[in-house]
Amino acid sequence: MTAEIIDGKAFADALRAQVAGAVPAFVDATGRKPGLAVVLVGDDPASSVYVRFKGKATLEAGMESFEHRLPEVSGQAELVALVEQLNADDRVDGILVQLPLPGHMDDKAVIATIDPAKDVDGFHVANAGRLAVGEKSLVPCTPFGALALLKHRLGDLSGLEAVVLGRSNIVGKPMAQLLLQQNCTVTIAHSRTRNLPDVVRRGDIVIAAVGQPQLVRGDWLKPGATVIDVGINRIQIGDGKTRLVGDVDFDSAKEVAGAITPVPGGVGPMTIAVLLRNTLVAAHARHDLRAPEGL
Ligand code: GUN
Repeated sequence: MTAEIIDGKAFADALRAQVAGAVPAFVDATGRKPGLAVVLVGDDPASSVYVRFKGKATLEAGMESFEHRLPEVSGQAELVALVEQLNADDRVDGILVQLPLPGHMDDKAVIATIDPAKDVDGFHVANAGRLAVGEKSLVPCTPFGALALLKHRLGDLSGLEAVVLGRSNIVGKPMAQLLLQQNCTVTIAHSRTRNLPDVVRRGDIVIAAVGQPQLVRGDWLKPGATVIDVGINRIQIGDGKTRLVGDVDFDSAKEVAGAITPVPGGVGPMTIAVLLRNTLVAAHARHDLRAPEGL
């Protein structure tokens, strides 16, 4: 059996188009565009590229983009002052502080200063708590995107066994909460899990988010499983060349899985599309407007 390849890029393009299509009605209702502020501290090349992509996608959706770059040596107080300024700025509906922050800063303390109503990453404890108790909240972009791909492929997820590899606050934990809300039987596996292949083999759904290149092999999977690969790892392939791979060994996994996301082109493009969606949703909520249907 060869798995269906889940085209995250096409799905993300459709979501971005849907968000862009809903912006004019927001502008008509409020007299202004939704705005997203992205903050980058330092000049890590990968983060710099992500931030540029986010800004470009924001403009393409018809929204306002505010980009703030602080030097690597900035103090945390300076970053917090900027976040507070963005909290108070009515043109800004969403605030994203690009992670990881430089080593001398405390990610959690900085995230805690973001207004939860503008926390389009869904990382603030208020949003994480609301998600955990099933209240309306802003949800982290990558897990939300992964869930959208799963629902598109599988429809009703009720009763399915879902195995989430990884327990990060950014992906693993919120992913598990979302799957639980969909009535999946959820297992969170991690670096201390015993007999990992046997645990993964239980999954009708497998979400790999551990940051270990090609860890999950085809013989770890239940035949027909739907596999969502959140990993983005750059590996050496000789001659000084590198290649992007996921946390799943795609070549062996696609022979066993029923459907699988590729890397690149799977979950990655969904993350930015959901960021735009979250910004539009946050903008509506700030104006006590109902979010557009289907978003
Ligand atoms: N760094 C890598 N992924 C993310 C993300 O989703 N949000 C933020 N803020 N930083 C990141």
